[in-house]
Amino acid sequence: MKTAITQDIDYCAALLKANRLVAIPTETVYGLAGNAMEEAAVANIFELKGRPRFNPVIVHIHSLSQLDGLAQNVPENAMRLAKAFWPGSLTLILPKHAKVPDIITAGKPTVGIRMPDHPLTLELLKKLPFPVAAPSANPFTRVSPTTVEHVSNYFNGRIPAILDGGPCSVGLESTIVGFDGEAPIVYRKGGISVEDIEATVGSVTLLLENETTPQAPGMLLKHYAPRTPLVVSADVDATITENTSKKVGVLSFCRDSFPQAALVKVLSTGASMEEAAQNLFASLHELDRAGLDLIVAERFPEKGLGRSINDRLHRAQN
Ligand code: TXA
Ligand code: MG
Repeated sequence: MKTAITQDIDYCAALLKANRLVAIPTETVYGLAGNAMEEAAVANIFELKGRPRFNPVIVHIHSLSQLDGLAQNVPENAMRLAKAFWPGSLTLILPKHAKVPDIITAGKPTVGIRMPDHPLTLELLKKLPFPVAAPSANPFTRVSPTTVEHVSNYFNGRIPAILDGGPCSVGLESTIVGFDGEAPIVYRKGGISVEDIEATVGSVTLLLENETTPQAPGMLLKHYAPRTPLVVSADVDATITENTSKKVGVLSFCRDSFPQAALVKVLSTGASMEEAAQNLFASLHELDRAGLDLIVAERFPEKGLGRSINDRLHRAQN
């Protein structure tokens, strides 16, 4: 199969209506999309990703009015967050409507829903009579794609089309928030900081650790992983010194000079967390392809998006 890299929304809509899969751009990462209401299309997503069936997928919508057919008993705090952050990098876990296929929710009573903030994808969603299921467009456990090239490296020849929306502007997956009654629970730190969520609905519970059964696979510790061994370090110089026999690459927040390193990727010369998040996965993809023995990733300040970035770096350790 030849994979079309295209900006033709009508073509992508036609493919999705025919139960085919299309990689779509969002502001967070590219998604692997299919008709959320058709079990066969969703099954195909799981198969292509090599994703275990116990791992539920997110449903993408373009309008709040679509919530009615997907969720019920929506908490007031969920509506507050939706109004504050949609379209945007927030996934809400809500009690599911009976119409949502079990394959989407992995048999859970809840469904993850998000309105992505990307003009092409919002336009595409408006042309469809159904919402789309879209996990990140990477094989299970691998680094998420933030460019068409990343998607193509993973799935070229195995999907009919990639909707080309350029590089992702946020670069981290959505923040996932569920509810116990009205009490907000953060399951995955992401493109919207925990501080921003708390400013809207008050203090949240973080449920991110690998407890016995993960609520969300973003919680599985080995995830977002490059093939090259990676270690997170608060003192990059010391870690390089401990590994002088190895060909070391550095993933640095803002400093660019590490004379002993074979390759240095700086995430933001101006020390902007937003810019660092935007560049994170592309830099990981690049370091992973550079034939290094070890990637040393600098630990970020534990605030704002730095918390989400640290989360991804820790999961990338292998
Ligand atoms: O930014 C994003 O969220 C991207 C773009 C494409 O929208 N999508 C994404 O999907 O990251 P995925 O499948 O890679 O991650 C979705 C996460 C998984 O960790 C999944 O377990 C969790 O959402 N999830 C989905 N439905 C859930 C549910 N009902 N309860 C708990 N977790 C859920
Ligand atoms: Mg993913």
